[in-house]
Amino acid sequence: MSSLPSAGSPAVYDRIGLGYREVRRPDPRLAALIHDALDGARTVVNVGAGAGSYEPPDAEVTAVDPSRVMLDQHPGAHRVQAGAENLPFGSGAFDAAMAIMTVHHWSDLHRGIRELRRVARRQVVLTWDPGHERELWLVSEYLPEIRNLDHARFTPVAEVAGSLGAHTVRSFPVPHDFSDGFQAAFWRRPEQYLDPIVRRASSTLAVLPSGVVERAMHRLRGDLASGEWQRRHADLLAEDTADYGYRLLIAGEDLPARTIAG
Ligand SMILES: C[S@@+](CC[C@H](N)C(=O)[O-])C[C@H]1O[C@@H](n2cnc3c(N)ncnc32)[C@H](O)[C@@H]1O
Repeated sequence: MSSLPSAGSPAVYDRIGLGYREVRRPDPRLAALIHDALDGARTVVNVGAGAGSYEPPDAEVTAVDPSRVMLDQHPGAHRVQAGAENLPFGSGAFDAAMAIMTVHHWSDLHRGIRELRRVARRQVVLTWDPGHERELWLVSEYLPEIRNLDHARFTPVAEVAGSLGAHTVRSFPVPHDFSDGFQAAFWRRPEQYLDPIVRRASSTLAVLPSGVVERAMHRLRGDLASGEWQRRHADLLAEDTADYGYRLLIAGEDLPARTIAG
């Protein structure tokens, strides 16, 4: 059993959410993928909306989040404080529902997904697959504590896809200059993890005991200064994108059937 604190509660975002927008800047390549999946939707509910990243600019968006700190950073006109598990909307109220890097925070994933399917005709979910084989060096070499925490809160993509009735699962390999501070965003920019503001915008890193993180960052700083990190990861420095397990799931109406791919 892990003795690490839970990151799966909206209260975490009431604590760490301040300054979220500085580090979690929407990336245009991920935006294109999400907007393509939402194509044709005139009304969209963004569940776990946070500061509103990736909302389609041409749709009427209702933002839903249980964290007041996050909703206060959302620029939209329609903001509702609620959790995914009990959406305060009628059945079929929206063309589409989007849920971006949030399902791992929900207290009841399957209930939340039932709610997405109830209130919207199409569903678009971005999540991370704990079954993905390639592990970020930050986890394997510096902070293995992240592994238990993330494996406890993220649900295998096949299970999320099953619950959603997804007809499409798309991979999103992370570009080396990705602008949104996901945990794996800085796979080719290791010095970024040394910045406490960057670490605070990742709910996993933010809830790890500070002593554990400081010790790991001390080692990383040393390995970067000596050139040891660069020697160990010369292969990474030659890659432009890397697949660390982020997946976009699409379900519901109005999209041509596609084959589910790993
Ligand atoms: C990593 S942030 C993602 C925010 C935004 N979707 C984005 O892509 O930047 C996760 C969000 O999920 C929200 N959240 C936590 N528990 C939730 C729940 N039960 N239902 C809906 N959202 C929840 C948090 O408050 C936080 O805003």
